[in-house]
Amino acid sequence: MSQEDANLEARLEEQEAFDPPESFVEQANVTDPGIYEEFEENWPDCWERAADLISWDEEYDTVLEDGDAPFYEWFTGGELNASYNCLDRHVEDGRADEAAIEWVGELGETRSYTYDELLAEVNEFAATLRGLGVEEDDVVTLYMPMIPELPIAMLACARIGAPHSVVFAGFSADALATRMNSADSEYLVTCDGYYRRGDALDHISKTNEGLEGVEHEVSDVVVVDRLGDDLEHSLADNQHDYDELVADYEGETVEPVSRDAEDMLFLMYTSGTTGQPKGVKHTTGGYLAYTAWTSRAVLDIEADDTYWCAADIGWITGHSYIVYGPLALGTTSVMYEGTPDYPEKDRLWQIVEDYGVDIFYTAPTAIRAFMKWGKEYPEKHDLSSLRLLGTVGEPINPRAWKWYYKHIGNEECPIVDTWWQTETGGMMITTLPGINTMKPGSAGPPLPGIDARVVSASGEEVDAGQAGYVTVDKPWPGMLRTLYNNDERFINEYWREYSDEETDEWVYFPEDGAKIDDDSYITILGRVDDVINVSGHRLGTMEIESAVVGVDGIAEAAVVGGDHEVKGEAVYVYAIPEDGYDADAELEERAVEGVLDSIGPIAKPEDVVFTPELPKTRSGKIMRRLLEDIASGNELGNTSTLRNPGVVDDIAAQVEES
Ligand code: WT7
Repeated sequence: MSQEDANLEARLEEQEAFDPPESFVEQANVTDPGIYEEFEENWPDCWERAADLISWDEEYDTVLEDGDAPFYEWFTGGELNASYNCLDRHVEDGRADEAAIEWVGELGETRSYTYDELLAEVNEFAATLRGLGVEEDDVVTLYMPMIPELPIAMLACARIGAPHSVVFAGFSADALATRMNSADSEYLVTCDGYYRRGDALDHISKTNEGLEGVEHEVSDVVVVDRLGDDLEHSLADNQHDYDELVADYEGETVEPVSRDAEDMLFLMYTSGTTGQPKGVKHTTGGYLAYTAWTSRAVLDIEADDTYWCAADIGWITGHSYIVYGPLALGTTSVMYEGTPDYPEKDRLWQIVEDYGVDIFYTAPTAIRAFMKWGKEYPEKHDLSSLRLLGTVGEPINPRAWKWYYKHIGNEECPIVDTWWQTETGGMMITTLPGINTMKPGSAGPPLPGIDARVVSASGEEVDAGQAGYVTVDKPWPGMLRTLYNNDERFINEYWREYSDEETDEWVYFPEDGAKIDDDSYITILGRVDDVINVSGHRLGTMEIESAVVGVDGIAEAAVVGGDHEVKGEAVYVYAIPEDGYDADAELEERAVEGVLDSIGPIAKPEDVVFTPELPKTRSGKIMRRLLEDIASGNELGNTSTLRNPGVVDDIAAQVEES
């Protein structure tokens, strides 16, 4: 390292606050610090600012209807169509020939869709779905990787008012079946396979296996042919080749259906404390207005930007910030099929250079991987088009933040560290890049109009510097409306903890721990429930546990998250073999297979430790915290409340050996 470099590193390391660069502020969408007060004073009417970014077929009468809290309704009386908002209106505004989606395939092929072309594809697929018999309010499941047909199918569903339920392509056959069963979904769009690190992955076999677990009749399955000759496969009677089917509807258009603001736009399943995934319901008006608003205010997106969110559309980040928010604003959204290190570790920076990406949004786990690979990869490319960087999904440590700031942003791009959840629909806690000072490691203040606080277990606001729990005391337009077919679980999971039902004061509890500082900046500490965050993906430990105990020869299991250099957290399994079974490599392998089969490779255990006993309190609860400390290699705390303290040392010794 040169002396100059070393000085720079030293300065960066000490710096705790960063002001947004002047060059950014000069052109930012939101620059008036008065916006916080303005939103507070005009709440809830302030949210008209978000609704104004959307075209309504029918104007709404009421901004917020809170008569049946916490079943809040937003922009009631309003009618709109999400696909019209993301496509037609931009074409009508003379932007037909501007790029909507720039797709980059892993093998190097590219596809570019102008707004006009994307609209035509969406129209044809909407006509196809109708032709199959899909009606308004039928849930269509989309089990697809990062190929253009995924956003096309989402927008086609939105066009005819059929809610979509996207299942991440990396999820297992079981996970597909569970979600189709829960949503009573009779239609599925999938593909034959896709490429990962140059290899053709079979997706259709996994799909078919999943379909065997669907309890109701599935009317039709549409299969995109992504692999061509690279994968031979046959289609069952109710399965259709995407291209052949769509060819019958060539050139057709479908009038976008006017949906009530509160009609469901989509379902997205996510993990919680119990084994059953939760079907988070998002509606049309509030969600679209909120994602458009946050895309504009936080990501600073404008129509002429080339914006890239390097997430997967199978998660909420991709729904809100690859598809709905950016396309509602008429911008160009880049979509990449593959992995960041294929064929080389500079793949992403090559794409930034090729397309002149100006806004880039990713997850801390990716940034930690970039750091590990080294600055020489971004240095090979011209990244000067970048204007703003974002992160989402898990806490970012100040070192990774500063690396991102310096080596990707060249100290010229603000970073927005955006805290939110599948349930919140859009960003909640983050700096506004044209206004606020950034503090690496801290997400920032709640967005204007978002009443987030950090409170103690009893609900009192904590003092600066103290740890507590995040709560949100007022509703917001992008919030989930309920859990699909389960209002009771909706109340129990999110509202019971801090609300006062007698006085009808409802407080949302996201189940995150946090600290707050003197400037009301919130630092997220992580989940406080049995959910772990692996590479920015939410996994329920109970789901993994039930997969492990489902394995022949395993009597009991505890699953915890342990620290991991790149993934943030990784999955650790502690299991008790059944009598008559050996704690050997074969049993370990089957335990791992059990997890892969029931969830997918993202949940793959880092380590499986067999033990004759699990550490339990006198009341019989597994002491997960101790297991977490063992997995993370931390100093072990007090074990005196355990019924079986000796077991902890035994497990720790075993882990050290392995
Ligand atoms: C959980 C939500 C939001 C889309 C991706 C994940 C954690 C999210 C941050 C952040 C610290 C974060 C929280 C949250 N999280 N963003 N900027 N800093 N933690 O969505 O799967 O619903 O997970 O991710 O723990 O509760 P999700």
